[in-house]
Amino acid sequence: MEQVIYRSYRQGGVRYTDVIAQGAPHFKWDFEEGIFMRANPVWAQVTPDTKFAPAVISDVFANNNPLYVEIGIGNGEFITHHASNNPASNWLGFEVFHEIFEKAINRVLRGELSNVRLLQFDAELFVRMLPLKSVSGFYVNFPDPWPKKRHKKRRLLKSWFMELMRDRLVDGGSITVATDHEDYAMEINENFAQVSGIESTLGAPYLNDLGDYYKTKYYRKFAATGKVFFFNFKVKL
Ligand SMILES: C[S@@+](CC[C@H](N)C(=O)[O-])C[C@H]1O[C@@H](n2cnc3c(N)ncnc32)[C@H](O)[C@@H]1O
Repeated sequence: MEQVIYRSYRQGGVRYTDVIAQGAPHFKWDFEEGIFMRANPVWAQVTPDTKFAPAVISDVFANNNPLYVEIGIGNGEFITHHASNNPASNWLGFEVFHEIFEKAINRVLRGELSNVRLLQFDAELFVRMLPLKSVSGFYVNFPDPWPKKRHKKRRLLKSWFMELMRDRLVDGGSITVATDHEDYAMEINENFAQVSGIESTLGAPYLNDLGDYYKTKYYRKFAATGKVFFFNFKVKL
């Protein structure tokens, strides 16, 4: 008989109370209007321990174009900018916060972009569903810094998560991260240093300017006057 467990936790500043139906191994990739999936009871089937079959990316996008993943898309500016400039690539975006997720949906629908899929789910859980060696690039723009000492453990960019991303990169694939939070930047630097098989492409652990890097809403609003730390890693060949 199916066992039901309740749990409650915070993620990305939001409290979730989940009903976890154990023994539900199939995740249905079912996109409204072919584009987006809001948090829904399916979420309840996902726990860090649940073993899902890897997603079939060619079914999700109906082609085999290169896949890029943005984590924490906010209002969707970055992902729509790149998706509309690169129609021969696929873009998968994750965002947990309801209100801005709706903004991102509207932006993609307005742009009539068929190469974007948006998921209102926790990337920590979903990145593990992506097949190994399937992603050409991960982008994490201004991840929540959790500045209080007791909250630091909630930061996304831990070594184990970096390894999860690394294993999903195709040969030559990359991970790009931007943060304006110096303490988080130093932690990112230390954590990446522990991850084997990838190396910085910048000739330095990080740079404070990446030339024409798209300036997201967070960047314009909060980081414009301060220092930004950019990281870019590639799989070692
Ligand atoms: C500081 S905002 C930056 C938003 C956007 N990238 C920008 O630069 O304007 C960080 C975003 O990441 C989202 N987020 C945090 N943890 C997440 C996770 N585990 N999965 C998906 N989104 C997440 C938050 O809800 C928030 O919208």
